[in-house]
Amino acid sequence: MNQTGQTQDELKTLVAQAALNYVVPGEYLGVGTGSTVNLFIDALAASGIAIKAAVSSSIASTQRLQSLGVPVVDLTLVLRMAVYIDGADEIDANGFMVKGGGAALTREKIVAAQADRFVCIADASKRVEVLGTFPLPVEVIPMAAPELMRQFSLLGGQAKLRMVNDQAFVTDNGQHLLDVVGLRINDPLGFENKVSQWPGVVTVGVFAHQRAHVCLLGTTQGVQTLVYD
Ligand code: 5RP
Repeated sequence: MNQTGQTQDELKTLVAQAALNYVVPGEYLGVGTGSTVNLFIDALAASGIAIKAAVSSSIASTQRLQSLGVPVVDLTLVLRMAVYIDGADEIDANGFMVKGGGAALTREKIVAAQADRFVCIADASKRVEVLGTFPLPVEVIPMAAPELMRQFSLLGGQAKLRMVNDQAFVTDNGQHLLDVVGLRINDPLGFENKVSQWPGVVTVGVFAHQRAHVCLLGTTQGVQTLVYD
């Protein structure tokens, strides 16, 4: 709860609702993953805005969209989308983000790359000066995990394998996730370029090449629209 008594969920609801203004009726819409996006999916279904179909970034979002009657198509059938709407774990002053807390980073990056505009929806707690406070998710091929953990330690980070019920967490793509703490990512583009080249990295959760063009930030003063393009 913040000073004006709004909870983080209320701020997420505000931005989810505001994102409806960016939906282009009759077109394909890219849809991300997470609790903020879940609220957006609910708002979209309730709005009656008819889109051609959604292109989803996770099994969880696909299920939620379909259960609310929003058609979903496979990305392979769609060349370009005007808009991709998704949340973030961190976003900086340039629209560079850390994503993947909800484990969907690989499909999120792929769908975002096929959209003309990335509209980020986030509560104010996600706005940071320097990326790296939130544990950085990295999807990896399981056999590479120990060596990748060593590589992150050379950068000053500590990588941990994400676990669920004492088992390594398995992504929608059948791979594992590292969460890396202790990094200060001062050069997001350079960092993304470097780590993406390490053998065994499927996707690093720094979204610098697929940065946000607009961020709808839920603040105590209402929705702030940050434009980066
Ligand atoms: C999922 C993501 C989410 O967008 C990110 O974790 C933010 O989630 P939430 O809206 O629940 O705070 O990247 O992979």
